[in-house]
Amino acid sequence: MSFFITFEGIEGSGKSTQITLLRDALKKSGYPVVETREPGGCPIADQIRSILLHPKNSNINATTELLLYAAARAQHVNDVIRPSLEQERLVLCDRYTDATYAYQGDGRNLDAKLIRQLNLVAAQGIFPDLTILIDLPVETGLGRALSREATLQDDSEGRFERETIDFHKRVRDGYLNLAKQEPSRFVLVDGALAIEDLAVKILQVTLNFLETRADRP
Ligand code: TMP
Repeated sequence: MSFFITFEGIEGSGKSTQITLLRDALKKSGYPVVETREPGGCPIADQIRSILLHPKNSNINATTELLLYAAARAQHVNDVIRPSLEQERLVLCDRYTDATYAYQGDGRNLDAKLIRQLNLVAAQGIFPDLTILIDLPVETGLGRALSREATLQDDSEGRFERETIDFHKRVRDGYLNLAKQEPSRFVLVDGALAIEDLAVKILQVTLNFLETRADRP
């Protein structure tokens, strides 16, 4: 049985680390896992990612940005997510349609109805079965993200880290609202926990979900 699990959260929430830990744990238990991310996940979407995240593109128009996220998603669904689900894989994806509501909707104040329409077009009917929202205070997340960036030689993906605290607070609130609207899909976990403790929690949540869903006809 194929499942589509997404991870969401503000900058520095620890998504990437947690997805890798979960992937390894699930693979050990024999699950056929595919790990991917947005924007990106396939060559064409990775090229769009470079445009979207490069600090030199700080003057990108908000609508252009929205359309590029949608374009990257359409390609990613086509090249990676749909084929993997058709092959009965368990797809773990770092960000998906909820990120567009939170960042372009709440962060940039773009129209939620327009985002919904674009998400529908880009997702081509493929929506997450489970979404793990790693929540933590904006100050903590941004502090982590900025100190990680300071250690990197490559400065090509830091555009969002340069946004204001208010922007990131709107994004966090946006995510929390999405979780409230769809409590059956979202599981909220505490991103301030130690990495290992959070990994245990996320593995529990995922196994619990998989066992519950596997029982269904
Ligand atoms: P990452 O840092 O988690 O790889 O995500 C890249 C950035 O892209 C992050 O700052 C959030 C942003 N983003 C959006 O603004 N809208 C979207 O739809 C997606 C998928 C990501």
